[in-house]
Amino acid sequence: MVLSRRGSGSVTLPTGQTLAIHTRTHDEEDLPHATKKTMSDHLRRFESIFTLTPQRMRMIVEAFKETLELGLEQSGQIVPMIPTFVFGWPTGQEKGDYLALDLGGTNLRVCLVTVQGDGKFEITQSKYRLTEDQKQDDGQKLFDFCAECLQTFISTSMSPEGSSQLQDGHKIPLGFTFSYPCTQERIDHGILIRWTKGFGADNTEGHDVAAMFRKSLEKYQLPVDLTALINDTTGTLIASHYVNPKTRVACIFGTGCNAAYMEDVADIPKMKGLNIDPKAQMAINCEWGAFDSFEHEHLPRTKYDTIVDETSNKPGEQAFEKLISGRYLGEILRLVICELIDEGILFLGQNTYKLESPYVFETAFLSLMESDPTDELLMIIGIFSHFFAVETTLAERQFFRALAQLIGRRAARLSACGIAAIVSKKGYLDEGCSVGADGSLYNKYPGFAERIHEGLVDIFGERGRNIVTHHAEDGSGVGSAIIAAMTNKRREQGLYPNL
Ligand code: GLC
Repeated sequence: MVLSRRGSGSVTLPTGQTLAIHTRTHDEEDLPHATKKTMSDHLRRFESIFTLTPQRMRMIVEAFKETLELGLEQSGQIVPMIPTFVFGWPTGQEKGDYLALDLGGTNLRVCLVTVQGDGKFEITQSKYRLTEDQKQDDGQKLFDFCAECLQTFISTSMSPEGSSQLQDGHKIPLGFTFSYPCTQERIDHGILIRWTKGFGADNTEGHDVAAMFRKSLEKYQLPVDLTALINDTTGTLIASHYVNPKTRVACIFGTGCNAAYMEDVADIPKMKGLNIDPKAQMAINCEWGAFDSFEHEHLPRTKYDTIVDETSNKPGEQAFEKLISGRYLGEILRLVICELIDEGILFLGQNTYKLESPYVFETAFLSLMESDPTDELLMIIGIFSHFFAVETTLAERQFFRALAQLIGRRAARLSACGIAAIVSKKGYLDEGCSVGADGSLYNKYPGFAERIHEGLVDIFGERGRNIVTHHAEDGSGVGSAIIAAMTNKRREQGLYPNL
């Protein structure tokens, strides 16, 4: 809905909750609120710690480039630069019916994708919400749940012809999008290096997740052939290129943050000795969320970022991702607010316990705060009163909005540094390229793409305008299906696993 500047209304949040908002006329009531002056003094303090200068960004890009090179040279690096065994670009003529299973950060999605060639496709899908327990419980149980959802999808959403095809003993090829760092020696297997995005299921790190999932497929006797195990970024790279051949890089800015691009095998020194044609190309899943992990030498971390890190289930890890992705931005803002509460600057005399639990302040609230179109910031009144039972003054609301802008802008500018590192490493700056981008932050956070573009100009000057991000095709569904199609073709040609 479009909010009017005054009056009342409601808005539905991504979480499904409805938020009622009202214009209030007696804003500065009896509670001892912070003054406008105090709030702008504080804002200056936060501006100085959350702002990234162009010079600082260029330094980050240089360090990032070295890290990418190191990951290509040697196995086992912090930014692992994972060869994906996705060889080259799609032709655009891939065809057929494929299942795609997407285990992302928040949901599980099952899709039936009909790839029609000429950049066309059709997709039918169902989504299932993952519980916190499922993310932390035993890994095999998680894969059993995936198989169960797949079974439900096959029996309820597939056409009778599809089902009769299955009864004839036909197995449908499946692309499994498993968006966590996995080392691969061929496309249909992958050892989980570590969980990211708050997952922690036991007995999975160090194991072949494709083999685990096959076990679950057998348990449920599903007529499915796990053809390819892919990362969401790799899927996004291939799906975006399928519809826009200018695509060279793909990024996800969602619960997690990562990128993939196409590399010349000759420039992946750690693959020498595997007898792969050096003239071939292979998609690389960078896992750049791990940049600057443990050593924290290059990124501008504030004390709030340190707290987010130290209280996470993986302290030290995913240092870049923790400054950027949707899983953490709300928590960073909440920690600033809590500090100001402790210092007696905000919400004096009010009960603030609802703001005190970790992760209650969702990143979706930052999006809403930044896009509040009303002079009185009614949306922000609504968020604080409805979810956290605290009253705010206009000066405080303006401060919260400015703080959201600082945190959101920093995330986008850091993302620009990552993109710039790949672009500069590959020499795409002059000819220009398209970057397919997906994820809740990119798609829903107001101004995220514009801020990335501004950041690219700050890094590269006017030439930065040659690098353009665009909303990507659905990598985990369509991309996964196209990769399954490409893999089947390589099999038919006798090229599998790695000629
Ligand atoms: C995390 C995962 C990575 C994934 C990204 C986006 O960084 O480690 O594999 O691509 O999130 O979902």
